[in-house]
Amino acid sequence: MSERESRAGRRLTRRGLLAGGAVAAAAAACAVPGGAGSAAAGSAPLPGGDAVEPFHGVHQAGVATSPQTFAVFAGFDLRPKTGRVALTRLMRLLTDDARRLTRGEPALADTDAELALLPARLTVTFGFGAGLLEAAGAGHLAPRPLPAFKIDALQPRWSGGDLLVQVCAEDRVTLAHALRVLVRDARSFATIRWTQHGFRQSPQVRAPGTTQRNLMGQLDGTVNLTPGSADFERAVWVRDGWLRGGTTLVLRRIRMDLEKWDAADRAAKEFSVGRRLDNGAPLTGRAETDEPDFAELGPSGLPVISEFAHIRRARTADPGMRILRRAYNYEAGLSPEGRQDAGLLFASYQADVARQFVPIQARLAEMDLLNQWTTPIGSAVFAIPPGCSSDGWIGETLLS
Ligand code: HEM
Repeated sequence: MSERESRAGRRLTRRGLLAGGAVAAAAAACAVPGGAGSAAAGSAPLPGGDAVEPFHGVHQAGVATSPQTFAVFAGFDLRPKTGRVALTRLMRLLTDDARRLTRGEPALADTDAELALLPARLTVTFGFGAGLLEAAGAGHLAPRPLPAFKIDALQPRWSGGDLLVQVCAEDRVTLAHALRVLVRDARSFATIRWTQHGFRQSPQVRAPGTTQRNLMGQLDGTVNLTPGSADFERAVWVRDGWLRGGTTLVLRRIRMDLEKWDAADRAAKEFSVGRRLDNGAPLTGRAETDEPDFAELGPSGLPVISEFAHIRRARTADPGMRILRRAYNYEAGLSPEGRQDAGLLFASYQADVARQFVPIQARLAEMDLLNQWTTPIGSAVFAIPPGCSSDGWIGETLLS
């Protein structure tokens, strides 16, 4: 975000604070010496806390947005008899919340308004599952479910869902507050099916735009689509119909068996992916961005990068048909024996699930050395509607 955008974001915040209702209450809190926003208390926001990601636009934020440190994906089930009219009310309400929160303003009737004042690059992204499209009388437009893959050990408690709310921010407190507000306003229309929290290496430890490490220690995200590039535009955004300007999300919860990974030696670990652990270079190269040479043979006459290595099985030759990976690590505590419940929230965005995601996942399910240590335990597919203008709302191209 440019400095100008950041300043504009701050102006919006201040102007919003002078508007009425709950917002004014927050302004009052800020005016009190020692109140939440008081610089006198030494609590003037740092640039990171003030940073705003624009909410309005052709596309929803949270897809092309450089990944924030924290994410929560919340999957909702619609309450029975929630039809088109109710869905319209719900999406207008949630859009209003998201619009305010992402620019650092409290939502209407925000009971802890001070918690909304540091947007910290907050984005809120909505997704519609098959159940929501059916409830809207548009079942024929629903994203098709994924085929079953033989590696899957899917659990209902991490799978499916009618409505997705994806919230990302640089700050965990901002994130928790935004989630609370959104869940509160969705409550009379929908119940929570699952929430999945994820994290990445923060900008304090790794420069934005550089590749992060996952919990297996690998640099993860080297070969990915670059926002703004022609390949990105073609691969990610839907070009026609109600989803024009939108995309689709496949969210897979993939458990890592880290104890078993500990038992593997470094060579086996690198061989399974086809890249080095230290700098992420392909086994045939020296630097992370070197092109892998799949034809290179080792002294034994076998390929240096195994035919079953993850990067070889996952590769899609046409860059405009690739997927956008925006993955988050998860760590959900320890078993009584001290085993970490950890893995990857693999979030894949693409214009067409069947043509882009499914062939890659099918090849990996068929054979991928990494499968020895990883197991998909959750899976969900959502249509991510296009963005909206300042007087619009997310879902209007479907529901209005
Ligand atoms: C826990 C599970 C997974 C782990 C630990 C993992 C890890 C990695 C690593 C370390 C790389 C190499 C660096 C990079 O280019 O990012 C990679 C590449 C890649 N992965 Fe995964 N991955 C996982 C699951 C998946 C899944 C489920 C898919 C898709 C269905 C996938 C698709 C890809 C693609 C497309 C690439 C780039 C391949 C290329 O070089 O063209 N990965 N992954």
